[in-house]
Amino acid sequence: MKKFSIYFLLMLIAGIAITQNKKTLKEQAKNQTKPYHFFEDPKTCEGCHVEKFKRWNVSQHSKAFTGDFFQKQFYDLVLASESFAPEVANVKEGCIGCHAPSAFLAGELVPPRTTKMDNFWNKGNGDKSMADRGVFCDFCHTISHFKNKPPFNHDYVSSATEAIDTKFGDLEFPWSPHHKTATSEIYEDPQMCSSCHNELNPYNVWVKHTFSEYENSVFPDQGIICQTCHMQPMGGKPAKMGIVRPVNSDHWWGGGFKEFVEGAARVELKLASDEFSMGTKVDFSVDVQAVATGHKFPTGSVEERDVWLRLSLIDNNGKELLHIPVPENPNDPNDKYFITSNEKVAYPSHSKLSEPFERDALPEGDRLYHSAFLDSEGNFTYAQWFCVEEIENRLNPLEIRNEKYSFTVPSNLPDEIYLQAKLNYRRMPDSFADFLEIDRRPVIQVAKDVRRLRIN
Ligand code: HEC
Ligand code: HEC
Ligand code: HEC
Ligand code: HEC
Ligand code: HEC
Repeated sequence: MKKFSIYFLLMLIAGIAITQNKKTLKEQAKNQTKPYHFFEDPKTCEGCHVEKFKRWNVSQHSKAFTGDFFQKQFYDLVLASESFAPEVANVKEGCIGCHAPSAFLAGELVPPRTTKMDNFWNKGNGDKSMADRGVFCDFCHTISHFKNKPPFNHDYVSSATEAIDTKFGDLEFPWSPHHKTATSEIYEDPQMCSSCHNELNPYNVWVKHTFSEYENSVFPDQGIICQTCHMQPMGGKPAKMGIVRPVNSDHWWGGGFKEFVEGAARVELKLASDEFSMGTKVDFSVDVQAVATGHKFPTGSVEERDVWLRLSLIDNNGKELLHIPVPENPNDPNDKYFITSNEKVAYPSHSKLSEPFERDALPEGDRLYHSAFLDSEGNFTYAQWFCVEEIENRLNPLEIRNEKYSFTVPSNLPDEIYLQAKLNYRRMPDSFADFLEIDRRPVIQVAKDVRRLRIN
């Protein structure tokens, strides 16, 4: 699956290469109250849609409520901050609207904390009901339409009722013994994803704009949508007793994990010569290009996700002999947000409500592709609901970013030395994971380029 995914995306891309009024959330909830039992549990669908269930069950959609990160952030930080300012008084409604849509529709905006806390590395068994179902089968397949165009902030309208509802989808002439089916265009429309993947926060800042980033890319014109990349064909049948279909779409929605991140961008060292003498100053540059993403890289929870570029001289065992830091740009006041730093300046909540910890928890001095969220005091925060300004330098899809570096060739180097450029990704800084007391997220290598140097 792993190689297959990126290969598929690269082929796809190579082939083509070349303010509305915010309706109040309360109003929405009032319009459509649907008790939990209006929705069938995912285990019910598993009986016939075995593969779909298996994949969904290991996806982030199935962990949207039970995920360790969400649980800690929602109960410990969000609820504790609602009395801080009128703007954030009802912010929990948004979290639940996207992360536990059936709880939102049931009007339960503070569901009980889950006893099934899980994460990508610690997978649950999918036996879920009520809020812990996260973003689940029957919720997605009974959506009628969205209120905005493009949709944002969980503006879905559900058609679920007390009965076993008609399931909407994109199959031609399906027949199911369990439920009625109906064709709906929304499942072949990337706007379906926009409803939750475009988020406007209480301070009117777009804290998630994956859909808008996609809209501004070359992909819509090529007919490539979110589903093309994130719900790839996986062979087999959509339902056990159904027929073999031309497309049986994967329901894993891989994103910020090894399978999708490895190879999502490429790096290329650019240097005029590879022969140098000791003590000379070497100028060179690196091209960095996101080659497999349909949006910026990184995207989504951009306040947490880090992509960074490390330059070094290494020996033939890969041991780092010299770290080559990215030069600072004194003319850019925002430069500090784009160079890894362990200064204790990052707040888990509003800076008036919390104590700062190390910002990146990474080796310092590397180019960082990232979004910095600032709160109303101008401080760096990981609390997207307090963000009043986003400062970012993320990679646009297919854009080539050229980074300039220099170093002086040190003396007493071994015979064989190499210049290495390595691009890495991590879902969140260790300092933040430690603060929340959840598992640290692994570092994933996105891409690497190495050049042998000859030193006289
Ligand atoms: C985030 C919303 C979402 C969730 C959750 C979801 N689906 Fe889907 N499903 C879709 C979309 C979108 C498509 C159409 C994909 C395409 O054809 O590109 C689809 C397609 C299908 C199809 C039609 C066959 C196909 O592959 O196109 C079936 C059957 C299906 N889903 C069943 C399920 C089951 C069972 C679950 C839970 C285990 C589930 N879905 C969870 C959005 C969702
Ligand atoms: C008893 C078996 C069975 C159960 C249980 C079942 N389905 Fe299905 N479903 C089917 C069959 C069979 C098809 C048609 C497959 C085909 O024609 O290829 C189907 C088709 C679908 C489609 C495609 C509809 C379309 O028009 O494209 C969706 C979506 C779907 N099911 C969702 C669900 C969801 C959600 C659940 C759980 C709440 C569920 N199903 C439970 C058997 C079942
Ligand atoms: C009802 C809201 C909702 C809809 C609709 C929705 N998503 Fe999501 N999606 C989420 C939430 C919430 C998460 C994050 C879950 C978590 O990690 O806590 C998520 C996570 C993801 C991820 C995983 C990101 C990662 O690395 O953790 C991908 C990929 C994704 N969605 C793609 C899609 C696509 C493609 C569609 C449209 C077919 C879609 N989503 C529709 C709410 C939604
Ligand atoms: C051309 C293929 C392609 C298209 C189109 C595409 N994506 Fe992605 N997406 C990727 C790849 C590759 C990654 C992994 C690298 C990354 O994290 O950005 C990814 C990552 C993600 C992530 C996880 C980001 C993170 O680090 O947490 C989310 C969420 C996501 N995509 C949602 C979407 C949505 C929503 C759309 C449509 C608006 C979409 N994608 C369109 C290829 C694509
Ligand atoms: C408009 C929909 C929306 C709203 C509102 C929203 N989220 Fe999310 N959230 C998402 C999506 C989509 C993702 C996946 C992005 C990605 O993985 O890159 C996500 C990702 C996350 C993650 C990262 C999970 C992980 O495993 O890395 C956490 C934690 C989270 N949200 C918490 C919250 C909290 C707390 C709130 C309320 C203040 C909130 N969200 C409001 C849609 C939303």
